[in-house]
Amino acid sequence: MSSTWKRLLWLLFVSGALVAVYVLYVLLRPVGAEPSAPIAGAPVEITAKLARGEYLARAADCVACHTVPGGKPYAGGLTFKLPFGTIYGTNITADRETGIGNWSDDQFVRAVREGVGPEGNLYPAMPYTSYTAMSREDALAIKAYLFSLPPVKQPNPSNDLSFPFNQRWGMALWNLAFFENRRFTSNPDKGEQWNRGAYLTTALGHCGECHSPRNLAFAMKQSQYLAGEVVQGWFAANITPHKETGIGNWSEQQLAAYLATGHAPGRSSASGPMAEAVEHSLQYLTPGDIQAMLTYLRDIPAIAGDSATAVNLKPQSALAATVVAPTPRQDSLGQRLFAQNCAGCHLWNGQGRQTKYASLRGSTASNDPQGRSVVQAILMGTRISIDEHHESMPGFAESHSDEEVAELANYVIAQFGGKQGTVTASQVAEQRKQ
Ligand code: HEC
Ligand code: HEC
Ligand code: HEC
Repeated sequence: MSSTWKRLLWLLFVSGALVAVYVLYVLLRPVGAEPSAPIAGAPVEITAKLARGEYLARAADCVACHTVPGGKPYAGGLTFKLPFGTIYGTNITADRETGIGNWSDDQFVRAVREGVGPEGNLYPAMPYTSYTAMSREDALAIKAYLFSLPPVKQPNPSNDLSFPFNQRWGMALWNLAFFENRRFTSNPDKGEQWNRGAYLTTALGHCGECHSPRNLAFAMKQSQYLAGEVVQGWFAANITPHKETGIGNWSEQQLAAYLATGHAPGRSSASGPMAEAVEHSLQYLTPGDIQAMLTYLRDIPAIAGDSATAVNLKPQSALAATVVAPTPRQDSLGQRLFAQNCAGCHLWNGQGRQTKYASLRGSTASNDPQGRSVVQAILMGTRISIDEHHESMPGFAESHSDEEVAELANYVIAQFGGKQGTVTASQVAEQRKQ
Protein backbone atom coordinates (compact mmCIF):
# COMPACT_ATOMS: atom_id res chain seq x y z
CA MET A 1 0.00 0.00 0.00
CA SER A 2 1.36 3.32 -1.02
CA SER A 3 1.79 6.02 1.58
CA THR A 4 -0.87 8.09 -0.23
CA TRP A 5 -3.50 5.39 0.37
CA LYS A 6 -2.39 5.05 4.01
CA ARG A 7 -2.83 8.78 4.52
CA LEU A 8 -6.27 8.67 2.89
CA LEU A 9 -7.41 5.81 5.15
CA TRP A 10 -6.06 7.62 8.18
CA LEU A 11 -7.99 10.75 7.13
CA LEU A 12 -11.22 8.75 6.72
CA PHE A 13 -10.73 7.18 10.15
CA VAL A 14 -10.14 10.54 11.81
CA SER A 15 -13.10 12.23 10.14
CA GLY A 16 -15.33 9.20 10.97
CA ALA A 17 -14.28 9.47 14.58
CA LEU A 18 -15.02 13.20 14.60
CA VAL A 19 -18.49 12.58 13.16
CA ALA A 20 -19.11 9.90 15.81
CA VAL A 21 -18.00 12.23 18.59
CA TYR A 22 -20.27 14.98 17.26
CA VAL A 23 -23.27 12.61 17.02
CA LEU A 24 -22.63 11.40 20.57
CA TYR A 25 -22.35 15.01 21.76
CA VAL A 26 -25.69 15.95 20.14
CA LEU A 27 -27.43 12.89 21.57
CA LEU A 28 -26.02 13.13 25.07
CA ARG A 29 -25.81 16.88 25.68
CA PRO A 30 -27.93 18.11 28.59
CA VAL A 31 -31.31 19.46 27.46
CA GLY A 32 -31.49 23.21 27.26
CA ALA A 33 -27.74 23.65 27.03
CA GLU A 34 -27.89 24.56 23.36
CA PRO A 35 -26.22 27.92 22.95
CA SER A 36 -28.68 30.50 21.58
CA ALA A 37 -27.24 31.10 18.15
CA PRO A 38 -27.92 34.47 16.51
CA ILE A 39 -30.04 32.72 13.83
CA ALA A 40 -32.47 31.57 16.53
CA GLY A 41 -32.57 35.07 18.06
CA ALA A 42 -34.12 36.98 15.15
CA PRO A 43 -37.51 35.19 14.93
CA VAL A 44 -37.89 35.42 18.72
CA GLU A 45 -37.44 39.20 18.54
CA ILE A 46 -39.93 39.47 15.71
CA THR A 47 -42.47 37.33 17.56
CA ALA A 48 -42.06 39.50 20.65
CA LYS A 49 -42.58 42.67 18.62
CA LEU A 50 -45.70 41.28 16.96
CA ALA A 51 -47.10 40.16 20.32
CA ARG A 52 -46.48 43.67 21.65
CA GLY A 53 -48.14 45.15 18.58
CA GLU A 54 -51.16 42.91 19.07
CA TYR A 55 -51.45 43.91 22.72
CA LEU A 56 -51.20 47.61 21.86
CA ALA A 57 -53.72 47.30 19.01
CA ARG A 58 -56.11 45.74 21.50
CA ALA A 59 -55.44 48.35 24.19
CA ALA A 60 -56.20 51.02 21.55
CA ASP A 61 -59.18 49.00 20.23
CA CYS A 62 -58.37 49.58 16.56
CA VAL A 63 -60.60 46.66 15.61
CA ALA A 64 -63.72 48.41 16.97
CA CYS A 65 -64.10 50.88 14.11
CA HIS A 66 -62.22 49.12 11.35
CA THR A 67 -64.34 45.96 11.25
CA VAL A 68 -68.01 45.33 10.45
CA PRO A 69 -69.82 42.85 12.72
CA GLY A 70 -69.10 39.39 11.34
CA GLY A 71 -66.58 40.80 8.84
CA LYS A 72 -62.84 40.21 8.47
CA PRO A 73 -60.83 41.98 11.21
CA TYR A 74 -59.43 45.39 10.17
CA ALA A 75 -60.93 45.19 6.65
CA GLY A 76 -63.09 48.27 7.30
CA GLY A 77 -66.64 49.13 6.23
CA LEU A 78 -68.16 50.13 9.57
CA THR A 79 -70.62 53.00 9.15
CA PHE A 80 -70.33 56.27 11.07
CA LYS A 81 -73.45 58.41 10.83
CA LEU A 82 -72.44 61.99 11.53
CA PRO A 83 -74.84 64.93 11.67
CA PHE A 84 -73.64 66.01 8.22
CA GLY A 85 -73.35 62.67 6.43
CA THR A 86 -71.87 59.19 6.52
CA ILE A 87 -68.24 58.06 6.63
CA TYR A 88 -66.69 54.61 7.03
CA GLY A 89 -63.95 52.95 9.04
CA THR A 90 -61.35 52.08 6.41
CA ASN A 91 -59.52 48.91 5.41
CA ILE A 92 -56.27 48.93 7.43
CA THR A 93 -55.06 45.47 6.45
CA ALA A 94 -51.83 45.19 4.45
CA ASP A 95 -53.63 44.77 1.11
CA ARG A 96 -51.73 46.93 -1.40
CA GLU A 97 -54.76 47.97 -3.43
CA THR A 98 -57.60 48.44 -0.98
CA GLY A 99 -55.74 48.59 2.34
CA ILE A 100 -52.60 50.29 3.59
CA GLY A 101 -50.06 47.75 2.29
CA ASN A 102 -48.10 50.43 0.42
CA TRP A 103 -47.88 52.84 3.30
CA SER A 104 -44.50 53.82 4.74
CA ASP A 105 -43.87 53.96 8.48
CA ASP A 106 -44.04 57.75 8.39
CA GLN A 107 -47.37 57.76 6.58
CA PHE A 108 -48.87 55.37 9.10
CA VAL A 109 -47.59 57.25 12.13
CA ARG A 110 -48.85 60.53 10.69
CA ALA A 111 -52.35 59.13 10.08
CA VAL A 112 -52.62 57.65 13.57
CA ARG A 113 -51.13 60.56 15.52
CA GLU A 114 -51.94 63.60 13.40
CA GLY A 115 -55.01 62.52 11.44
CA VAL A 116 -53.47 63.13 8.05
CA GLY A 117 -53.60 60.39 5.40
CA PRO A 118 -52.31 60.34 1.83
CA GLU A 119 -55.66 61.73 0.64
CA GLY A 120 -55.68 64.54 3.14
CA ASN A 121 -57.05 65.17 6.59
CA LEU A 122 -59.01 62.45 8.38
CA TYR A 123 -62.25 63.17 10.21
CA PRO A 124 -61.89 62.99 13.99
CA ALA A 125 -64.22 59.97 14.08
CA MET A 126 -60.75 58.40 13.85
CA PRO A 127 -59.56 59.27 17.38
CA TYR A 128 -56.16 60.69 16.42
CA THR A 129 -57.11 63.39 18.91
CA SER A 130 -56.23 60.80 21.60
CA TYR A 131 -53.72 58.64 19.72
CA THR A 132 -51.59 61.74 19.20
CA ALA A 133 -50.10 60.94 22.61
CA MET A 134 -48.80 57.55 21.38
CA SER A 135 -45.06 56.90 21.06
CA ARG A 136 -43.70 56.30 17.55
CA GLU A 137 -42.38 52.94 18.71
CA ASP A 138 -45.85 51.83 19.83
CA ALA A 139 -47.52 53.05 16.64
CA LEU A 140 -44.97 51.12 14.57
CA ALA A 141 -45.44 47.98 16.68
CA ILE A 142 -49.16 48.21 15.82
CA LYS A 143 -48.28 48.64 12.13
CA ALA A 144 -45.97 45.61 12.23
CA TYR A 145 -48.76 43.57 13.80
CA LEU A 146 -51.34 44.70 11.22
CA PHE A 147 -48.90 43.88 8.42
CA SER A 148 -48.32 40.38 9.84
CA LEU A 149 -52.02 39.52 9.33
CA PRO A 150 -53.38 38.22 6.01
CA PRO A 151 -54.14 41.18 3.69
CA VAL A 152 -57.84 41.48 2.85
CA LYS A 153 -58.96 42.82 -0.54
CA GLN A 154 -62.04 44.89 0.29
CA PRO A 155 -62.56 48.35 -1.22
CA ASN A 156 -63.63 51.16 1.09
CA PRO A 157 -67.18 52.42 0.54
CA SER A 158 -67.09 56.05 -0.55
CA ASN A 159 -68.13 58.62 2.03
CA ASP A 160 -71.43 60.41 1.65
CA LEU A 161 -70.92 63.90 3.00
CA SER A 162 -72.57 67.14 2.09
CA PHE A 163 -70.65 70.30 1.16
CA PRO A 164 -68.62 71.78 2.87
CA PHE A 165 -68.00 68.74 5.07
CA ASN A 166 -66.79 66.65 2.14
CA GLN A 167 -63.81 69.01 1.86
CA ARG A 168 -61.07 67.31 3.84
CA TRP A 169 -59.02 70.50 4.08
CA GLY A 170 -61.79 71.85 6.31
CA MET A 171 -60.47 69.51 8.98
CA ALA A 172 -57.11 71.28 8.83
CA LEU A 173 -58.92 74.38 10.09
CA TRP A 174 -60.63 72.30 12.77
CA ASN A 175 -57.22 70.93 13.82
CA LEU A 176 -55.85 74.44 14.00
CA ALA A 177 -58.63 75.41 16.41
CA PHE A 178 -59.01 72.25 18.51
CA PHE A 179 -56.17 69.79 17.99
CA GLU A 180 -52.93 69.73 19.89
CA ASN A 181 -50.35 67.54 18.16
CA ARG A 182 -48.54 66.39 21.29
CA ARG A 183 -46.88 63.19 22.56
CA PHE A 184 -47.36 61.80 26.04
CA THR A 185 -44.72 62.94 28.52
CA SER A 186 -44.54 61.39 31.96
CA ASN A 187 -45.34 63.50 34.94
CA PRO A 188 -42.24 63.43 37.18
CA ASP A 189 -44.36 64.18 40.28
CA LYS A 190 -46.29 60.92 39.88
CA GLY A 191 -45.16 57.33 40.15
CA GLU A 192 -44.52 54.85 37.38
CA GLN A 193 -47.91 53.17 37.80
CA TRP A 194 -49.78 56.48 37.51
CA ASN A 195 -47.89 57.37 34.36
CA ARG A 196 -48.50 53.96 32.82
CA GLY A 197 -52.20 54.38 33.65
CA ALA A 198 -52.31 57.85 32.12
CA TYR A 199 -50.75 56.55 28.90
CA LEU A 200 -53.15 53.59 28.73
CA THR A 201 -56.21 55.79 29.36
CA THR A 202 -55.33 58.58 26.93
CA ALA A 203 -52.90 57.49 24.19
CA LEU A 204 -54.28 53.95 23.85
CA GLY A 205 -57.70 53.49 25.52
CA HIS A 206 -59.03 56.88 24.28
CA CYS A 207 -61.64 56.78 27.09
CA GLY A 208 -62.16 60.54 26.77
CA GLU A 209 -63.52 60.16 23.22
CA CYS A 210 -66.73 58.74 24.69
CA HIS A 211 -66.70 59.92 28.30
CA SER A 212 -65.70 63.60 27.91
CA PRO A 213 -68.34 66.22 27.08
CA ARG A 214 -67.86 67.83 23.66
CA ASN A 215 -68.36 71.41 22.53
CA LEU A 216 -70.52 72.50 19.59
CA ALA A 217 -67.67 71.82 17.16
CA PHE A 218 -67.45 68.22 18.42
CA ALA A 219 -64.13 68.77 20.22
CA MET A 220 -63.54 67.23 23.67
CA LYS A 221 -63.73 69.77 26.49
CA GLN A 222 -60.48 69.30 28.40
CA SER A 223 -61.89 71.11 31.45
CA GLN A 224 -64.64 68.45 31.65
CA TYR A 225 -62.31 65.48 31.16
CA LEU A 226 -64.27 62.20 31.62
CA ALA A 227 -67.26 63.97 33.20
CA GLY A 228 -69.82 62.06 31.07
CA GLU A 229 -71.34 62.38 27.57
CA VAL A 230 -74.02 60.81 25.40
CA VAL A 231 -72.61 58.43 22.77
CA GLN A 232 -74.81 56.89 20.06
CA GLY A 233 -77.77 57.43 22.38
CA TRP A 234 -76.10 55.77 25.40
CA PHE A 235 -75.04 57.72 28.47
CA ALA A 236 -71.28 57.20 28.91
CA ALA A 237 -71.30 58.09 32.60
CA ASN A 238 -69.06 60.39 34.60
CA ILE A 239 -65.92 58.36 35.43
CA THR A 240 -64.06 61.04 37.38
CA PRO A 241 -63.50 60.30 41.09
CA HIS A 242 -66.52 62.43 42.09
CA LYS A 243 -68.21 60.56 44.94
CA GLU A 244 -71.90 60.94 44.11
CA THR A 245 -71.98 61.32 40.34
CA GLY A 246 -68.69 59.63 39.35
CA ILE A 247 -66.86 56.47 40.36
CA GLY A 248 -65.52 57.86 43.67
CA ASN A 249 -67.61 55.45 45.76
CA TRP A 250 -66.88 52.35 43.68
CA SER A 251 -64.57 49.88 45.42
CA GLU A 252 -61.26 48.83 43.89
CA GLN A 253 -62.71 45.36 43.16
CA GLN A 254 -65.82 46.77 41.53
CA LEU A 255 -63.84 48.98 39.18
CA ALA A 256 -61.28 46.32 38.28
CA ALA A 257 -64.03 43.75 37.66
CA TYR A 258 -66.02 46.19 35.52
CA LEU A 259 -63.08 46.98 33.25
CA ALA A 260 -61.75 43.42 33.00
CA THR A 261 -65.08 41.53 32.75
CA GLY A 262 -67.82 44.12 32.05
CA HIS A 263 -69.63 43.57 35.31
CA ALA A 264 -69.13 45.20 38.72
CA PRO A 265 -70.81 43.27 41.57
CA GLY A 266 -73.54 45.46 43.10
CA ARG A 267 -73.08 48.06 40.35
CA SER A 268 -73.37 48.30 36.59
CA SER A 269 -72.84 45.87 33.75
CA ALA A 270 -71.24 47.19 30.58
CA SER A 271 -73.78 47.43 27.76
CA GLY A 272 -73.72 48.87 24.25
CA PRO A 273 -70.50 50.66 23.22
CA MET A 274 -68.89 49.97 26.61
CA ALA A 275 -69.60 46.24 26.28
CA GLU A 276 -67.74 46.40 22.97
CA ALA A 277 -64.81 48.22 24.55
CA VAL A 278 -64.54 45.52 27.23
CA GLU A 279 -65.05 42.69 24.75
CA HIS A 280 -62.51 43.81 22.14
CA SER A 281 -60.05 45.69 24.27
CA LEU A 282 -60.11 45.88 28.06
CA GLN A 283 -60.56 42.16 28.82
CA TYR A 284 -57.14 41.54 27.23
CA LEU A 285 -55.22 43.97 29.44
CA THR A 286 -52.98 42.51 32.14
CA PRO A 287 -54.17 42.92 35.75
CA GLY A 288 -51.18 45.24 36.23
CA ASP A 289 -52.35 47.51 33.43
CA ILE A 290 -55.95 47.58 34.75
CA GLN A 291 -54.53 48.54 38.15
CA ALA A 292 -52.43 51.27 36.55
CA MET A 293 -55.53 52.74 34.86
CA LEU A 294 -57.38 52.75 38.17
CA THR A 295 -54.50 54.52 39.90
CA TYR A 296 -54.73 57.24 37.27
CA LEU A 297 -58.55 57.44 37.13
CA ARG A 298 -58.71 57.78 40.93
CA ASP A 299 -56.34 60.73 40.79
CA ILE A 300 -57.79 62.97 38.05
CA PRO A 301 -59.87 66.02 39.09
CA ALA A 302 -63.30 65.03 40.40
CA ILE A 303 -66.03 66.82 38.44
CA ALA A 304 -69.61 66.96 39.66
CA GLY A 305 -72.09 65.64 37.10
CA ASP A 306 -75.87 65.96 37.10
CA SER A 307 -76.83 65.08 40.70
CA ALA A 308 -80.07 63.49 39.47
CA THR A 309 -77.99 60.61 38.05
CA ALA A 310 -76.35 59.73 41.40
CA VAL A 311 -76.80 56.01 42.05
CA ASN A 312 -79.26 55.10 44.76
CA LEU A 313 -77.93 51.79 46.06
CA LYS A 314 -80.98 51.09 48.22
CA PRO A 315 -84.09 52.03 46.23
CA GLN A 316 -87.14 51.40 48.46
CA SER A 317 -89.18 49.84 45.68
CA ALA A 318 -86.48 47.32 44.86
CA LEU A 319 -85.89 46.48 48.51
CA ALA A 320 -89.57 45.72 48.87
CA ALA A 321 -89.65 43.69 45.67
CA THR A 322 -89.21 39.95 45.72
CA VAL A 323 -88.59 37.43 42.99
CA VAL A 324 -92.34 36.83 42.68
CA ALA A 325 -94.47 39.10 40.52
CA PRO A 326 -96.08 42.08 42.30
CA THR A 327 -99.79 41.84 43.05
CA PRO A 328 -102.18 42.87 40.25
CA ARG A 329 -103.26 45.80 42.45
CA GLN A 330 -99.99 47.59 41.58
CA ASP A 331 -100.38 46.72 37.95
CA SER A 332 -99.41 49.36 35.38
CA LEU A 333 -98.61 49.19 31.64
CA GLY A 334 -94.86 49.34 32.34
CA GLN A 335 -95.12 46.58 34.90
CA ARG A 336 -97.22 44.35 32.62
CA LEU A 337 -94.71 44.78 29.80
CA PHE A 338 -91.85 44.05 32.20
CA ALA A 339 -93.63 40.86 33.29
CA GLN A 340 -94.11 39.72 29.70
CA ASN A 341 -90.72 40.65 28.29
CA CYS A 342 -88.09 41.21 30.93
CA ALA A 343 -88.73 39.57 34.31
CA GLY A 344 -87.75 36.16 32.96
CA CYS A 345 -84.15 37.31 32.61
CA HIS A 346 -83.90 40.19 35.06
CA LEU A 347 -86.21 38.94 37.89
CA TRP A 348 -88.51 41.22 39.84
CA ASN A 349 -85.80 42.15 42.30
CA GLY A 350 -83.47 43.01 39.44
CA GLN A 351 -80.80 40.56 40.52
CA GLY A 352 -80.77 38.69 37.24
CA ARG A 353 -81.53 35.05 36.68
CA GLN A 354 -78.60 32.75 35.86
CA THR A 355 -76.31 35.65 35.11
CA LYS A 356 -75.02 38.48 37.25
CA TYR A 357 -74.73 40.56 34.06
CA ALA A 358 -78.52 40.96 34.07
CA SER A 359 -78.59 42.68 37.47
CA LEU A 360 -80.24 46.10 37.21
CA ARG A 361 -79.98 47.31 40.82
CA GLY A 362 -77.07 49.63 41.57
CA SER A 363 -76.61 50.21 37.87
CA THR A 364 -75.94 53.75 36.67
CA ALA A 365 -78.21 53.12 33.67
CA SER A 366 -81.28 52.40 35.88
CA ASN A 367 -80.47 55.45 37.99
CA ASP A 368 -80.49 57.98 35.17
CA PRO A 369 -83.96 59.62 35.28
CA GLN A 370 -83.56 60.48 31.59
CA GLY A 371 -83.16 56.74 30.96
CA ARG A 372 -80.84 57.21 28.00
CA SER A 373 -79.00 53.87 28.27
CA VAL A 374 -82.16 52.05 29.44
CA VAL A 375 -84.02 53.14 26.30
CA GLN A 376 -81.02 52.23 24.15
CA ALA A 377 -80.76 48.75 25.76
CA ILE A 378 -84.49 48.12 25.25
CA LEU A 379 -84.44 49.28 21.62
CA MET A 380 -81.20 47.72 20.43
CA GLY A 381 -80.50 44.97 22.94
CA THR A 382 -76.94 44.43 24.07
CA ARG A 383 -74.34 41.70 24.13
CA ILE A 384 -70.91 41.02 25.49
CA SER A 385 -68.51 38.07 25.15
CA ILE A 386 -65.82 37.48 27.73
CA ASP A 387 -63.53 34.57 26.87
CA GLU A 388 -65.91 31.86 25.71
CA HIS A 389 -68.78 33.25 27.72
CA HIS A 390 -71.62 35.14 26.00
CA GLU A 391 -74.30 37.35 27.55
CA SER A 392 -77.01 38.89 25.50
CA MET A 393 -80.31 40.68 25.55
CA PRO A 394 -82.54 40.93 22.46
CA GLY A 395 -83.72 44.33 21.17
CA PHE A 396 -87.40 45.31 21.36
CA ALA A 397 -87.41 48.08 18.75
CA GLU A 398 -89.49 46.08 16.26
CA SER A 399 -92.01 44.64 18.70
CA HIS A 400 -92.74 47.69 20.86
CA SER A 401 -94.06 51.19 20.19
CA ASP A 402 -92.40 54.39 21.41
CA GLU A 403 -95.05 54.68 24.17
CA GLU A 404 -94.45 51.12 25.34
CA VAL A 405 -90.68 51.55 25.41
CA ALA A 406 -91.09 54.79 27.39
CA GLU A 407 -93.41 53.05 29.91
CA LEU A 408 -90.94 50.17 30.26
CA ALA A 409 -88.00 52.52 30.76
CA ASN A 410 -89.81 54.55 33.42
CA TYR A 411 -90.80 51.33 35.16
CA VAL A 412 -87.15 50.15 35.25
CA ILE A 413 -86.03 53.54 36.64
CA ALA A 414 -88.73 53.47 39.35
CA GLN A 415 -88.23 49.84 40.30
CA PHE A 416 -84.42 49.65 40.31
CA GLY A 417 -83.34 53.25 40.77
CA GLY A 418 -86.21 54.28 43.05
CA LYS A 419 -86.61 57.43 40.94
CA GLN A 420 -89.23 59.11 38.81
CA GLY A 421 -88.23 58.55 35.19
CA THR A 422 -88.83 61.30 32.62
CA VAL A 423 -88.71 59.20 29.45
CA THR A 424 -91.28 60.25 26.82
CA ALA A 425 -92.43 58.64 23.58
CA SER A 426 -90.83 61.43 21.56
CA GLN A 427 -87.48 60.84 23.28
CA VAL A 428 -87.73 57.16 22.30
CA ALA A 429 -88.55 58.16 18.71
CA GLU A 430 -85.44 60.35 18.70
CA GLN A 431 -83.23 57.55 20.11
CA ARG A 432 -84.55 55.09 17.54
CA LYS A 433 -82.67 57.11 14.90
CA GLN A 434 -79.30 56.38 16.58
C1 HEC B 1 -63.60 55.25 17.14
C2 HEC B 1 -63.34 54.67 15.84
C3 HEC B 1 -61.91 54.37 15.41
C4 HEC B 1 -60.92 53.77 16.12
C5 HEC B 1 -60.98 53.24 17.55
C6 HEC B 1 -59.77 53.68 15.23
N1 HEC B 1 -60.08 54.23 14.01
FE1 HEC B 1 -58.81 54.44 12.42
N2 HEC B 1 -60.28 55.40 11.39
C7 HEC B 1 -61.60 55.56 11.80
C8 HEC B 1 -62.36 56.20 10.73
C9 HEC B 1 -63.84 56.52 10.79
C10 HEC B 1 -61.45 56.43 9.68
C11 HEC B 1 -61.75 57.10 8.36
C12 HEC B 1 -61.67 58.60 8.56
C13 HEC B 1 -61.86 59.41 7.33
O1 HEC B 1 -62.35 58.89 6.30
O2 HEC B 1 -61.51 60.59 7.37
C14 HEC B 1 -60.16 55.93 10.13
C15 HEC B 1 -58.99 56.00 9.37
C16 HEC B 1 -57.80 55.37 9.72
C17 HEC B 1 -56.62 55.35 8.89
C18 HEC B 1 -56.48 56.02 7.52
C19 HEC B 1 -56.81 54.99 6.48
C20 HEC B 1 -56.90 55.52 5.08
O3 HEC B 1 -57.07 54.69 4.18
O4 HEC B 1 -56.84 56.74 4.87
C21 HEC B 1 -55.68 54.60 9.54
C22 HEC B 1 -54.27 54.26 9.07
C23 HEC B 1 -56.26 54.17 10.78
N3 HEC B 1 -57.54 54.67 10.86
C24 HEC B 1 -55.62 53.39 11.71
C25 HEC B 1 -56.14 53.10 12.98
C26 HEC B 1 -55.39 52.43 14.00
C27 HEC B 1 -53.99 51.89 13.85
C28 HEC B 1 -56.20 52.37 15.11
C29 HEC B 1 -55.86 51.86 16.49
C30 HEC B 1 -54.65 52.43 17.06
C31 HEC B 1 -57.46 53.00 14.74
N4 HEC B 1 -57.38 53.43 13.44
C32 HEC B 1 -58.55 53.13 15.58
C33 HEC B 1 -62.11 55.21 13.02
C34 HEC B 1 -61.39 54.65 14.07
C1 HEC C 1 -67.02 53.73 22.48
C2 HEC C 1 -67.32 54.57 23.61
C3 HEC C 1 -66.63 54.26 24.92
C4 HEC C 1 -65.28 54.12 25.17
C5 HEC C 1 -64.13 54.20 24.17
C6 HEC C 1 -65.15 53.91 26.58
N1 HEC C 1 -66.37 53.92 27.19
FE1 HEC C 1 -66.75 53.55 29.15
N2 HEC C 1 -68.74 53.65 28.81
C7 HEC C 1 -69.33 53.95 27.60
C8 HEC C 1 -70.77 53.86 27.74
C9 HEC C 1 -71.81 54.10 26.65
C10 HEC C 1 -71.02 53.49 29.08
C11 HEC C 1 -72.38 53.19 29.73
C12 HEC C 1 -72.67 51.70 29.53
C13 HEC C 1 -73.97 51.20 30.12
O1 HEC C 1 -74.87 51.99 30.37
O2 HEC C 1 -74.05 49.98 30.34
C14 HEC C 1 -69.72 53.38 29.73
C15 HEC C 1 -69.54 53.03 31.06
C16 HEC C 1 -68.31 53.00 31.71
C17 HEC C 1 -68.14 52.77 33.13
C18 HEC C 1 -69.26 52.50 34.13
C19 HEC C 1 -69.80 53.79 34.67
C20 HEC C 1 -71.02 53.61 35.50
O3 HEC C 1 -71.28 54.51 36.32
O4 HEC C 1 -71.74 52.62 35.33
C21 HEC C 1 -66.78 52.82 33.39
C22 HEC C 1 -66.10 52.63 34.73
C23 HEC C 1 -66.13 53.10 32.13
N3 HEC C 1 -67.08 53.19 31.13
C24 HEC C 1 -64.76 53.24 31.98
C25 HEC C 1 -64.14 53.42 30.75
C26 HEC C 1 -62.71 53.48 30.57
C27 HEC C 1 -61.68 53.42 31.69
C28 HEC C 1 -62.48 53.61 29.24
C29 HEC C 1 -61.16 53.67 28.50
C30 HEC C 1 -60.34 52.50 28.63
C31 HEC C 1 -63.78 53.64 28.59
N4 HEC C 1 -64.75 53.53 29.53
C32 HEC C 1 -63.93 53.77 27.22
C33 HEC C 1 -68.68 54.24 26.41
C34 HEC C 1 -67.30 54.13 26.21
C1 HEC D 1 -82.69 36.96 27.30
C2 HEC D 1 -82.54 37.64 28.57
C3 HEC D 1 -82.95 39.11 28.64
C4 HEC D 1 -84.17 39.68 28.33
C5 HEC D 1 -85.43 39.01 27.79
C6 HEC D 1 -84.04 41.09 28.67
N1 HEC D 1 -82.77 41.36 29.13
FE1 HEC D 1 -82.08 43.16 29.67
N2 HEC D 1 -80.20 42.39 29.82
C7 HEC D 1 -79.89 41.05 29.76
C8 HEC D 1 -78.45 40.89 29.91
C9 HEC D 1 -77.68 39.56 29.92
C10 HEC D 1 -77.93 42.20 30.05
C11 HEC D 1 -76.45 42.60 30.20
C12 HEC D 1 -75.77 42.44 28.85
C13 HEC D 1 -74.47 43.22 28.73
O1 HEC D 1 -73.77 43.41 29.73
O2 HEC D 1 -74.16 43.68 27.59
C14 HEC D 1 -79.06 43.11 30.00
C15 HEC D 1 -78.96 44.50 30.13
C16 HEC D 1 -80.04 45.35 30.32
C17 HEC D 1 -79.94 46.75 30.63
C18 HEC D 1 -78.65 47.56 30.73
C19 HEC D 1 -78.16 47.64 32.14
C20 HEC D 1 -76.87 48.45 32.27
O3 HEC D 1 -76.42 48.61 33.43
O4 HEC D 1 -76.30 48.91 31.28
C21 HEC D 1 -81.22 47.21 30.79
C22 HEC D 1 -81.64 48.60 31.15
C23 HEC D 1 -82.11 46.09 30.54
N3 HEC D 1 -81.34 44.98 30.26
C24 HEC D 1 -83.50 46.15 30.59
C25 HEC D 1 -84.32 45.17 30.04
C26 HEC D 1 -85.73 45.34 29.80
C27 HEC D 1 -86.53 46.57 30.17
C28 HEC D 1 -86.18 44.18 29.21
C29 HEC D 1 -87.56 43.87 28.70
C30 HEC D 1 -88.08 44.78 27.70
C31 HEC D 1 -85.03 43.29 29.10
N4 HEC D 1 -83.94 43.93 29.61
C32 HEC D 1 -85.07 42.01 28.56
C33 HEC D 1 -80.77 40.00 29.54
C34 HEC D 1 -82.08 40.17 29.13
